Amino acid sequence: MAERADAAGIKKAAALIRAGGVVAFPTETVYGLGADGLDPKACARVFEIKGRPRFDPLILHERSAVRARRLFSRVPAAAARLMKKFWPGPLTLVLPKAAVVPDIVTAGLKTVAVRVPANPAALALIKAAGRPIAAPSANRFGRLSPTTAAHVKKQLGRGPDLILDGGKTAIGVESTIITFKRGRPMLLRPGGLPLEEIEKIAGPAAAAGKSVGKPLAPGCLKKHYAPKAKLRILGPGRAGKPGTRAAYLAFSKRPAGKYAAVAVLSRTGDLREAAANLFGALHRLENSGARVIYAEQVPPHGLGRAIMDRLRRAAA
Ligand code: TXA
Ligand code: MG
Repeated sequence: MAERADAAGIKKAAALIRAGGVVAFPTETVYGLGADGLDPKACARVFEIKGRPRFDPLILHERSAVRARRLFSRVPAAAARLMKKFWPGPLTLVLPKAAVVPDIVTAGLKTVAVRVPANPAALALIKAAGRPIAAPSANRFGRLSPTTAAHVKKQLGRGPDLILDGGKTAIGVESTIITFKRGRPMLLRPGGLPLEEIEKIAGPAAAAGKSVGKPLAPGCLKKHYAPKAKLRILGPGRAGKPGTRAAYLAFSKRPAGKYAAVAVLSRTGDLREAAANLFGALHRLENSGARVIYAEQVPPHGLGRAIMDRLRRAAA
């Protein structure tokens, strides 16, 4: 069932969340699959609908920095500056959790991921629900992320109790995830807020490196965001092989040759526009029935870092 994200739709969605239901809703990054973040049973349904392993923790969404802070037990000074500057916005902070946060949300970790989304429908939903909303991206585990209500429907079908349709999301890639180590910021996932912006406020980021054994963000697996077709990243100056079973993801210029489908991320070569169009383009190329998708590289700074991260994982 889908409803427009207007006052009536939001009211219905909030009632469902309060009753332990699961609702897909728009944020400024991608659509989330939301449930009452303080209700372990409701959160368990999110894992089931998504087909997500229980070791992969969820993000809690709050409607203000003041409320979000209550979900943490300790906040370093530089993290407080980031909240002040970038919330609401596409930034998730991972910090020591407060006692109210259920273990299922954090997958047993002592830290919790929290953000305040910059989307009026999302904020209104959190407010009407009256509690933090736990939400991963509203896709099947490991698959392409959703930037429209139709993308959610394609992958999750009748899984969620309601899909709130707020149109295409503005930023189009997930939030940037930052944690702190001895007062220094560390990048766990590149995303909608460029690392350069974060470093201006919080100082230079420590290299995330590879921790021994388990990954730092448990969900940042090598293979992720995968379309059904095989994705091949083209090295500089390399061309794809045109054909009826091949699709092409271009950064700014159409490729030579005939493909089953072609998507251009930004005609002006604008990385923000390219990020906003990324998942929509991949969904479309996937729907073309192509067996291989050739993808061009984009400049690896600003939002390009998040785009290249998603392409590399999709190709893994
Ligand atoms: O933009 C976004 O962040 C979207 C929208 C819906 O808010 N959400 C999203 O959630 O991308 P999800 O679950 O698809 O990705 C969250 C990532 C996962 O890789 C998870 O492992 C990581 O955050 N994460 C969550 N809690 C963590 C924690 N305590 N420590 C380290 N990583 C954590
Ligand atoms: Mg995800």
